[in-house]
Amino acid sequence: MSLLEDIRGRRVFSCVMGLGYVGLPLTLEFVRAGYRVVGLETDPSRVAALRQGRSYITDVSDGEVKEALDTGRLELTGDPAILSQVQTVNICVPTPLSKSGDPDLSYVQGAVRSIVETQRPGQLYVLESTTYPGTTEEALLPALSQNGLRVGEDFYLAFSPERVDPGNPRYNTRNIPKVVGGVTPRCTEVACALYANCIEAIVPVSSPRVAEMVKLLENTYRSVNIGLVNELARMCHSLGVDIWEVIEAAKTKPFGFMAFYPGPGLGGHCIPIDPVYLSWKARQVGFEAQFIKLASQVNARMPQFVVDLVVKALNDRGKALKGARVLLVGVAYKADVGDTRESPALDVWHLLERLEARVSYHDPHVPRVEAGGERHGSRPLDTKVLEEADCVVLLANHGELDLALIRARSDCIIDTRNAFKGFPSDGKVYKL
Ligand SMILES: NC(=O)c1ccc[n+]([C@@H]2O[C@H](COP(=O)([O-])OP(=O)(O)OC[C@H]3O[C@@H](n4cnc5c(N)ncnc54)[C@H](O)[C@@H]3O)[C@@H](O)[C@H]2O)c1
Repeated sequence: MSLLEDIRGRRVFSCVMGLGYVGLPLTLEFVRAGYRVVGLETDPSRVAALRQGRSYITDVSDGEVKEALDTGRLELTGDPAILSQVQTVNICVPTPLSKSGDPDLSYVQGAVRSIVETQRPGQLYVLESTTYPGTTEEALLPALSQNGLRVGEDFYLAFSPERVDPGNPRYNTRNIPKVVGGVTPRCTEVACALYANCIEAIVPVSSPRVAEMVKLLENTYRSVNIGLVNELARMCHSLGVDIWEVIEAAKTKPFGFMAFYPGPGLGGHCIPIDPVYLSWKARQVGFEAQFIKLASQVNARMPQFVVDLVVKALNDRGKALKGARVLLVGVAYKADVGDTRESPALDVWHLLERLEARVSYHDPHVPRVEAGGERHGSRPLDTKVLEEADCVVLLANHGELDLALIRARSDCIIDTRNAFKGFPSDGKVYKL
């Protein structure tokens, strides 16, 4: 029986390496597809939580984990020895930046080392971690070939970018089209078959390099367009024009325009980091990626712009920032998620503290956060906390925030997300 037949017959035994924002939803889709699945995760607390039917990812409910466990087809382990038994492996491990700002492929390399140690013929390996074009063929292929196995014959290798959008209620792993690029046509065919049983649309491309570049185009496109609109937001401020009203009107054009919105800066594990992977790789071939550099400079300036607004708002009230109580509302990097990785809120916090403001925060999705070398707890969003604050800064506009209460109980609000759109204008809200 070939691997392809096993996949098509849903008899395959699959492994997902790395059960984070990307790997956990994929694991559950594979279980729903009827596969026998093992989730391999190096963090023992994550393995323990899942075994008890508890999810630590906002978009995955405890019920979904329990449902998968109840099928009897989901195992969870921290032991890479399991790799010798599985037929397919999806690598969903982190790809951060190193201290020097270069791509850090150490997690991917660690995952590949575990595979090589237990490798047997007939397996499919798919890298899903975001990375620079060429990684699959330059870094994974030589390592996976060292046991004398031939790609496309003895094993299959592909890259398939994960495009999940945490906190998005409409799009999930299942209904986001899956781009797949194999090293050989046979690799593409086998990898496409694996996804076809659980993902609605599959988009094969000619190589892993193209698939890697697709993801970086998408995220660079976002980074550059957010940079453009952030620059325009600051320009509009100087011109006395409301950028939000401009965008709403521009959006009515039925073609040739896509709305992007300004904000306090870029955050999360993707948009601030992925374009850096691309510019790093471009530099290796003597190419300077100018748009990427400019956009990251403009986006990195936004937390300071937010602080400038706080200073102005306090100044209008005859107050200094030094000693002022500033409440940050929403410290996650975007609405409706609990993820604070690279969150611009932490940069705003740091800048405010440097000027000796007294900073605290409220975030319904983030019970605790580390800022300024200390751990802080989320304060309740109540009348007392709001009235105590000299300035309230709205940074991530979570759906459950009580905007009416914020507006009623504070008279100095910095709104970086146009959250108060539709509320009457009364001079207490300073928009980005
Ligand atoms: N979070 C997103 O929205 C998103 C979207 C698209 C793509 N991506 C990309 O997907 C990749 C994973 O991102 P994430 O957000 O899921 O990361 P994450 O940190 O949430 O999860 C990765 C998991 O991999 C585990 N891990 C590390 N090395 C391992 C190993 N050798 N074996 C088993 N487990 C291992 C970690 O403990 C962690 O739990 C990254 O490359 C990221 O850029 C993320």
